[in-house]
Amino acid sequence: MEKTFYIETFGCQMNAHDSEKVIGTLIDQGYAQRETPEEANYIFYNTCSIRDKAEQKVFNRLMHLKKSAGRGKVLGLLGCVAQQEGEKIFERAPYISLVAGSASYTKLPEMLRQLEAGDRRVTGLSLDTEETFDTPLTRRDNPYKAFLTIIEGCDKACAYCVVPFTRGPERSRTAASVVDEAKRLVDQGYTEVQLLGQNVNSYRDPSPTGWDFATLLNEVGNIPGMKRVRFTTSHPRDFVKPIIDAIESNPNLCNHVHLPVQSGSDYVLGAMDRLYTREQYMQRIEWMKNSKRPIAITTDIILGFPGETEEDFQQTLDLLDEVEYDALFAFKYSPRPNTAALQFEDHIPEEEKTRRIQMLLERQRAIQIRKNSELVGAVEEVHVEGRHEMLNQWTGKTTSHHTLNFTGRDSEDLLGRYVNVRVLRAGPNSLTGEAVQ
Ligand code: SAH
Ligand code: SF4
Ligand code: F3S
Repeated sequence: MEKTFYIETFGCQMNAHDSEKVIGTLIDQGYAQRETPEEANYIFYNTCSIRDKAEQKVFNRLMHLKKSAGRGKVLGLLGCVAQQEGEKIFERAPYISLVAGSASYTKLPEMLRQLEAGDRRVTGLSLDTEETFDTPLTRRDNPYKAFLTIIEGCDKACAYCVVPFTRGPERSRTAASVVDEAKRLVDQGYTEVQLLGQNVNSYRDPSPTGWDFATLLNEVGNIPGMKRVRFTTSHPRDFVKPIIDAIESNPNLCNHVHLPVQSGSDYVLGAMDRLYTREQYMQRIEWMKNSKRPIAITTDIILGFPGETEEDFQQTLDLLDEVEYDALFAFKYSPRPNTAALQFEDHIPEEEKTRRIQMLLERQRAIQIRKNSELVGAVEEVHVEGRHEMLNQWTGKTTSHHTLNFTGRDSEDLLGRYVNVRVLRAGPNSLTGEAVQ
């Protein structure tokens, strides 16, 4: 059988980056990547289980595939649904041959050899592993900005969240291997990296060097040729002042922090087991607001967690006004397998969750319109990532992660370059401007 594969990725940036590593590993084993499932003999889905909708998407895709392109092909399920459902997948979808979670990807080549030797089903589901999946073979998708994993797994136990079950306990990479990879990326022409982990703040170098996250951040920012360093995600409990000091003193560290709050109510935060109060969260926001650099702040919010009253919800709305986030992601609470909140009573009806999320997004939209309009007239440095030929516009991101579309310098190739742009107009979700001569 021809060694060709197709892979589709769902979920977060960690999954997207895992797929880049899997692709590199498969290519190294002599497999060729194809753009459609029809053209490939191996089909992989790298799956997400964070909300029920994400999981359903995967099973819908599988059903569809089984009816059409799936015949005679080898199907593999990777990622968080694979880890969560394990061997049960084979009952639900008997046409699947391989089930592997992210802690087992180092074993993929061996698993594929087993399939080729005639095994009908293989699994990689062990989570009690010390291993991290660092591979020099990674095939990165984006030519301008590179993902770089620094820590895998999560040791928190937020009552709603599957991640500790689907990705296992925390494992930090050695600082030496992170810095090495970042240097290699600069050699390959990258000037922007995004450090990844479910909770980057609890990073701790396992080697005797013992660097904490702020130290690592600073060191990566100091690599000659590195222009921009971003990081996601921060857990507020482990977000310490030295991280802000690092951002303040090192202009290569982007002035943007994604600090998921989930709720503005202490009751709900307690029920979620988030390990901080609203006051402690606001303390971190104050550090950023008092910083010499204007640090953009974004967040995640869950609406309709079991027991969330109208009063709790109002406290979340009130928090939006207090913090004035630059952007946010809002989600309706979705009950997930294995999680503590599954046992909670007082589930909020779907229509009520919808009402709350709509109200919240409306409130936030007004904040973004107001905040973004304050940027009109400013000159911002844009890392150019794309070009809309039809609109005659370049597009890219500012250090604070605003999307800034701009005109000018049409005859040049600006892709991957840093350009100063004057902001002329502001919408709720993006800015428009003109390159400064
Ligand atoms: N490790 C990160 C994010 C993990 S998942 C952190 O701790 O912030 C990304 C976001 O999905 C979370 O911040 C949360 O807002 C949302 N989320 C996670 N589980 C959810 C669930 N069961 N229902 C709805 N949203 C959820
Ligand atoms: Fe999930 Fe909480 Fe861990 Fe984030 S910190 S991955 S929300 S358990
Ligand atoms: Fe989804 Fe797994 Fe990421 S559940 S959000 S792909 S860690």
